[in-house]
Amino acid sequence: MGELRVHNFAISLDGFGTGEGQSADAAFGHAGERIHDWMFATRYWHEMGGVRRGSVGADNAFATMHSSGIGAEIMGAGKFGPPGWQDDPGYKGAWGPNPPFHTPVFVLTHRPRPSVEMAGGTTFHFLDAPPAEALKIALEAAGGQDVRLGGGPSVIRDFVAEGLVDQMHLVQVPILLGRGVRLWDGLEALEEAYHIEAVSTPSGVTHLTFTAKKR
Ligand SMILES: NC(=O)c1ccc[n+]([C@@H]2O[C@H](COP(=O)([O-])OP(=O)(O)OC[C@H]3O[C@@H](n4cnc5c(N)ncnc54)[C@H](OP(=O)(O)O)[C@@H]3O)[C@@H](O)[C@H]2O)c1
Repeated sequence: MGELRVHNFAISLDGFGTGEGQSADAAFGHAGERIHDWMFATRYWHEMGGVRRGSVGADNAFATMHSSGIGAEIMGAGKFGPPGWQDDPGYKGAWGPNPPFHTPVFVLTHRPRPSVEMAGGTTFHFLDAPPAEALKIALEAAGGQDVRLGGGPSVIRDFVAEGLVDQMHLVQVPILLGRGVRLWDGLEALEEAYHIEAVSTPSGVTHLTFTAKKR
C-alpha cells in the first residue's frame, strides 16, 4: 500500500507555512515568495521550467524527492486558489493549463464541483470528506504509488493530527513571519510519533525529515 508523504513544505522560524492576506496576487500573503527562495536556486526548480541550470547540492537533492513514486496529490482549498475561488465556476487552479502535478489531484473543499481535466495528466477532483476518507480515495487513484500531501498548513496539520502522514519533509527557512497560518498548533509532542532528523545546508535552511515510528 502506498504511503502519504509531504515534500518541500516550507515554514518560517516561527512555524508559519504561509503569511497573512492571501490573494490572487500574493499566494503566500505578506510572506511573499521568500519561503521558497531556497528552492528557486535549485536545478530541480529550473528543470521544471525546462531550463538546465541551478544548484545540484543538498537543497536540490531534497527537492527532487518531491516527485518520485507519487501517483496522486491531496491539497487544501487554500493551496488550490485564493480566498473566494469557489465563487468562480471557471476557476482551474493557480498553475495555468498544464499544472506541475501530472497525476490526479484531490482538492479538499466544502464546496465541491465536477472534476476538471488539465493538460499534462493532471485532473483536479474536488472532495468534501474527512482526512482518512480522502486518503483512501487518493491511494486508490495512485494505483499502488504514494500520495503527496501538498499543503497548505491547515490540511497538513489535520492529516498529521490524525496520524495519517508517513513521511514529512519540511524546510525551515531563516525568516520570522509573525503572522499567517501556523503548522504546529495542536500538534504537541509530535516527536513521540516520528523519528526526526535535521540537516542545515549552506543556503541557510534546515531540512527536517519526519518518519513515522509505526513504519
Ligand atoms: N509553505 C509551503 O511550502 C506551502 C505549500 C503549499 C501551499 N502553501 C500556502 O498555504 C496557503 C494555504 O494554506 P491554508 O492553511 O490557508 O489552507 P489549506 O490547508 O490549503 O486549505 C484549507 C481549506 O481546505 C478546505 N478543507 C480542508 N479540509 C477539508 C475537508 N476535510 N473537507 C472539505 N474541505 C476541507 C477548507 O476550505 P473551504 O471550507 O473553503 O472549502 C479549508 O479552509 C496558501 O497561501 C498557499 O500558497 C504553502
